[in-house]
Amino acid sequence: MSTTESCPIPTVSPPKHLESSIPADNAEPVSDNVPKYLQESGVTEECKKLILSLPTEKGWVANHLHQYQGFWHTTRHLQALLTCQRHFQAEDSDILLVTTPKSGTTWLKAMVFALMNRDQYPNNNDHHPLLSENPHVLVPFLELRLYIDGQVGDFTTFRSPRLFGTHLPFVSLPETVKNSPCYLVYLCRNPKDTFVSLWHFTNKLRKKGMGMGTNSLEWSFDKFTRGVSLYGPFWDHVLEYWKESLENPERVLFLKYEDMKEQPKVQVSKLAKFFGRPFSLQEETNGVVDGILKLCSFENLSNLEVNKTGKLDTGEDFNTFFRQGEVEMLRII
Ligand code: A3P
Repeated sequence: MSTTESCPIPTVSPPKHLESSIPADNAEPVSDNVPKYLQESGVTEECKKLILSLPTEKGWVANHLHQYQGFWHTTRHLQALLTCQRHFQAEDSDILLVTTPKSGTTWLKAMVFALMNRDQYPNNNDHHPLLSENPHVLVPFLELRLYIDGQVGDFTTFRSPRLFGTHLPFVSLPETVKNSPCYLVYLCRNPKDTFVSLWHFTNKLRKKGMGMGTNSLEWSFDKFTRGVSLYGPFWDHVLEYWKESLENPERVLFLKYEDMKEQPKVQVSKLAKFFGRPFSLQEETNGVVDGILKLCSFENLSNLEVNKTGKLDTGEDFNTFFRQGEVEMLRII
């Protein structure tokens, strides 16, 4: 299958030996009490047909993961990915924040939102949107939110530059994104911390959403290291964007979670410069950079009422996006 095709839906009947991978045939139904992307209902015939031709494995929370264009997706977000590939029209000024799950997406979204809206919402503003809205509301995911119902998203309320989040691997980005000069910021986190965070996160979803037991560390580690995790293989995801950032440094900025923890001021200034909105001397002396870092810190965001009790309309509890927020790379679990 060509990796540049945007939506290679097979037109032939699936081979008989793959029929056992049809979700409805061999799976416990996934509760509606979990985020939409983990549900397996409401999938189009077209998507079901595609799934029959794809490698399928048991998921961490949802029953199935399907490998499409080399990466693993749940049933529902595979459908969303296809719709997004088909319909998303990138604008030159768009900013896409890209991560693998649990690499610090929430943090990056908060920082870029605060950075890009710093004139309209100074940090000392009691009405700053980040104080009353979760970063995933302010910077929505393309495939996990705007296209999750398999319908064309509503973009009428977005102001330019539009900010979006995505976990899509580079190969699966809509062609209009690949062909436009829009900005891509990739945040990478070391695989050990990403894995541990994902393990906790998925077990929380299993327990809360479906009353299921925990996946053992061994089972999850085996899956992760074989690349069978949401948007995995982890290294392929990272390497695609790393390569792109080397080839197109003015378009793709590659950041690391660990650097953001160690030198937050340097990294946020790098971001500002990348978007062509560097901090002025006056902003630096007035504490604008420090203010953004404080506003977006783990301590601040995780203690806000909205992030303790709120929920996305697609079902994700905001508090699941905050756990420790530390670099634990060298410590034993
Ligand atoms: P841990 O589980 O290691 O604590 P994502 O946003 O991609 O889902 O990633 C979630 C991880 O980022 C979690 O890691 C979470 O605690 C951490 N995180 C969330 N907000 C953060 C912030 N403001 N600063 C640093 N880390 C943050």
